[in-house]
Amino acid sequence: MRQSMEILAALGKIYGAADMVPVTSVQVAGVSYKTIGDAGLEYLQDMVQKGAKVKVPTFLNPAGMDREQWEALRVPPAFAKKQLEILDTFAEMGIGMTCTCTPYLVGIRPKQSEHIAWSESSAISFANSVLGARTNREGGPSALAAAICGFTPNYGLHLDENRVANLLVKVETELKGTSDFGAMGAYIGEAAKGKTPAFVGVKAASEDRLKSLGASMAAWGSVAIYNMQGITPEWNVVDGAEEITFGARELAETREKIGGDGKPDMVAIGCPHASLSEIEEVAVKVRGKKLATKLWVCTARKTKEAADKAGFTQAIEQAGGNVVADTCMVVCPLEEMGIKHAACNSGKAAKYLTNMFKRKVVYGDVGDIICE
Ligand code: F3S
Repeated sequence: MRQSMEILAALGKIYGAADMVPVTSVQVAGVSYKTIGDAGLEYLQDMVQKGAKVKVPTFLNPAGMDREQWEALRVPPAFAKKQLEILDTFAEMGIGMTCTCTPYLVGIRPKQSEHIAWSESSAISFANSVLGARTNREGGPSALAAAICGFTPNYGLHLDENRVANLLVKVETELKGTSDFGAMGAYIGEAAKGKTPAFVGVKAASEDRLKSLGASMAAWGSVAIYNMQGITPEWNVVDGAEEITFGARELAETREKIGGDGKPDMVAIGCPHASLSEIEEVAVKVRGKKLATKLWVCTARKTKEAADKAGFTQAIEQAGGNVVADTCMVVCPLEEMGIKHAACNSGKAAKYLTNMFKRKVVYGDVGDIICE
């Protein structure tokens, strides 16, 4: 606890926090063995040896594999062994094995103005923007420190004055599907350059599309909060905010920039983790068919259990696909599993998979990218 307090006090000093603020939940990232490696595992084991225990409800981001299906999904055993050790250390600290980037879809849904300390960029965006909760972008160690102490330094997005938008985005084109929201996120993420965007002109946006937009802006430009007129609970725009337009030309150019061609080895849906209705959309599309390409729908375990009950998992598996829990296409060892080219409907996944495979992904909505 002393070591955790030192981390929080140092952060508070750096950012000029006047005090600490209690948090109601913590989400810890840096869970996959692929991202934290042996050094991360040793850090966590050291914390456990020193008696670290969390004080507030604390949950994990996706791990590097599905805890139940890893063998069937051909995850290398050496990787699995390390991954299980990492999960064990988190469990010893009292952390919940949610292994999802969408805790808000599995019952962990902070209310407006509630202070939390979350660390996965898409979840942070959703919590700040769509729920109106308050969190900075925590790193793995600072989130863990907040979980152990039960509070976090009171600076940044915990304060009203830092939640004001200063980039007004006029949306002048129709956004037809999730991939259009992801493409807009990529464009605005890059254009924001540290500013906070506020969107006008979006007539309707489901939570699924807002999670896609936020994830993409976070990946392409570290945007941790946005406002959307008539849709998000907060609408605070500074007078004289810079204005930009997102129209049909910007949408087409961004889709062209993100997406490549060729035949993918894998279609990956669920970045951020798929909601039950997104899994249903895939199930309806593939029911009774035989897929020509491997298909993963990544989701939280609780959401998968609901999909199992509803028969969606069965429809997807009968077509040759998988509903995969606890992990995602970015944090699992895809290359070691023989995947070299992927298709996706997510602006965030497109950015990371492009970096991973050194070639552009095939980008589109579920109806366009699933290969029958
Ligand atoms: Fe979630 Fe993995 Fe995407 S953690 S936001 S599904 S890269």
